[in-house]
Amino acid sequence: MNSAAPLLSVRGLNAWYGESHALHGVDLDVFPSETVTLLGRNGVGKTTTLRAIMGLIRKRTGRIDFDGKDLMRLPLHRTAHAGIGFVPEERGIFATLTVDENLILPPVVAPGGMSVEEIFDLFPNLKERRNSPGTKLSGGEQQMLAIARILRTGVKVLLLDEPTEGLAPVIVQRIGELLAALKKRGMTVLLVEQNFRFASRVADRFYLMEHGKVMAEFPVGELNERMTLLHDVLGV
Ligand SMILES: Nc1ncnc2c1ncn2[C@@H]1O[C@H](COP(=O)(O)OP(=O)(O)O)[C@@H](O)[C@H]1O
Ligand SMILES: [Mg+2]
Repeated sequence: MNSAAPLLSVRGLNAWYGESHALHGVDLDVFPSETVTLLGRNGVGKTTTLRAIMGLIRKRTGRIDFDGKDLMRLPLHRTAHAGIGFVPEERGIFATLTVDENLILPPVVAPGGMSVEEIFDLFPNLKERRNSPGTKLSGGEQQMLAIARILRTGVKVLLLDEPTEGLAPVIVQRIGELLAALKKRGMTVLLVEQNFRFASRVADRFYLMEHGKVMAEFPVGELNERMTLLHDVLGV
């Protein structure tokens, strides 16, 4: 097991949209250099968990500790600066800006981020398209750009919300290779995925969510013995 302290630790996280109670006590840990996957059916609260960690949902209770900082006490604009990068499902590429411009726009928050040249080594297809505007990129290129531009900022952990959604198998494969390369570099990743097969290739550990909380946790080595549970809970 992992003897280091978690880089990100979430305890008893509750979150609300107005009066609607979406998270009911989420507990999870992400250790340094781990890739952890949050699994669960549509609507169980995976995206809400990432948004609440980022501080994008302010109506929340519980504990979120990241790299020695109490995130519950930080205002939204300080969360990214604490070293957490969020790649939302909708990717948020600036449509009229080129690949180059999208890459250099997010500010560097900490030393240790990748240079644009290092990023292009990892994403040769983005290099070829460096002068193309966001609108001209395919879904897969947009997803890669959304991840790539966060890598420049020096964040210590990446929160990725369904990066493979709606992408062709060959692009999903590319994103898998990319996550493997990031893991090799020691990046810490909290990945939300519905594509369970994809997740099983990149994750060290899994959390299974149901009804706004985590209902099971297991390492990738236990995947086979957990298959019945996964089929039941995910309906796949
Ligand atoms: N902006 C919102 N306003 C109100 N309810 C929301 C909003 N976003 C999500 N929800 C609700 O919160 C619950 C969790 O949603 P979400 O975190 O998006 O689930 P998942 O990412 O696991 O599919 C769902 O019941 C969903 O309908
Ligand atoms: Mg979601």
